[in-house]
Amino acid sequence: MQRTKDIALAARRLKDGGLVAFATETVYGLGADACNDRAVAAIYEAKGRPSFNPLIVHVNSVEAAQQLGDFTPAARDLAQAFWPGPLTLVVPRAANCRVSRLASAGLDSLALRIPAHDQARALLDEFGGPVVAPSANPSGKISSTRPEHVLTGFADHEGLVLDGGNCAIGVESTIVSCLGAAPAILRAGGLVAADIRQVCPNCETNQHNNTSVPVAPGQLLSHYAPDAPVRLNVEKPQADEAFLAFGTADTANPQTLNLSPSGNLGEAAGNLFAMLHRFDEMGVEKIAVAPIPETGLGRAINDRLRRAAAPRP
Ligand code: TXA
Ligand code: MG
Repeated sequence: MQRTKDIALAARRLKDGGLVAFATETVYGLGADACNDRAVAAIYEAKGRPSFNPLIVHVNSVEAAQQLGDFTPAARDLAQAFWPGPLTLVVPRAANCRVSRLASAGLDSLALRIPAHDQARALLDEFGGPVVAPSANPSGKISSTRPEHVLTGFADHEGLVLDGGNCAIGVESTIVSCLGAAPAILRAGGLVAADIRQVCPNCETNQHNNTSVPVAPGQLLSHYAPDAPVRLNVEKPQADEAFLAFGTADTANPQTLNLSPSGNLGEAAGNLFAMLHRFDEMGVEKIAVAPIPETGLGRAINDRLRRAAAPRP
């Protein structure tokens, strides 16, 4: 992969059917022209992603989104309230939807999002069409929140990385299905459930965190995995464990990284993937993780950590 800051070059690469990783406020995405079957197929290949796992389509306006999918009143309200932002809406594909069928992995629905990152939006403007982008990491591995993570994860790939700095939120978007009568949260993420319920009080939490049956098709149990095995809810790490701390940590363990010394969940989300990457770089043998409160952004953090700790296939 090659790093660039040239948006025009990146947009041209997308038009030519190439892959361009770009920053969003959540994580880096590995982007391709959503209407080009070959380009979409190249994403699955580059990531080693199972073909049953559909992709999120990124657009730059609510109007563009509504041309691709059919919005219920609830979907409209959520889009109005939270776009651009860390929210993905799953809606039925519109009758004349131009997005590659491969992107929705054979489903009749489509996941749509308007990112809140100036450079991502400039890229979407310059490209002038929908861009599919899964998180820019090899399938099952840790998501990327810095350009260096993408460069390492896809070292041998010929694509581009549009350098947009570090991602401000650090965990992926919250996915809400707007297919049924009531909207349902399929994946906890950067937009917290309490905020969604302000707009849609009947929104369901439909997460099955401890099952291997995926709800969003890509929500496989083992995911976001660092090289070392992960042990959760650890108050005091063993001597041979690296420690991912949260809040005040009284450990003498030299391999300690603290998600947020002050116990701030937003700061912890922003640090989560970068610190797991750091443990990979350090080559640690085992990782113990401190308990994280299951509130607000803590839900998304704990969801990622549970998958990082799950038995590997
Ligand atoms: O923050 C994010 O959402 C990032 C940035 C780049 O936008 N993208 C991201 O993509 O996290 P990815 O591919 O890592 O995760 C997309 C998730 C998968 O779990 C997939 O199964 C689900 O979205 N998904 C996509 N289309 C869907 C659909 N039609 N119905 C249900 N789930 C869907
Ligand atoms: Mg991902």
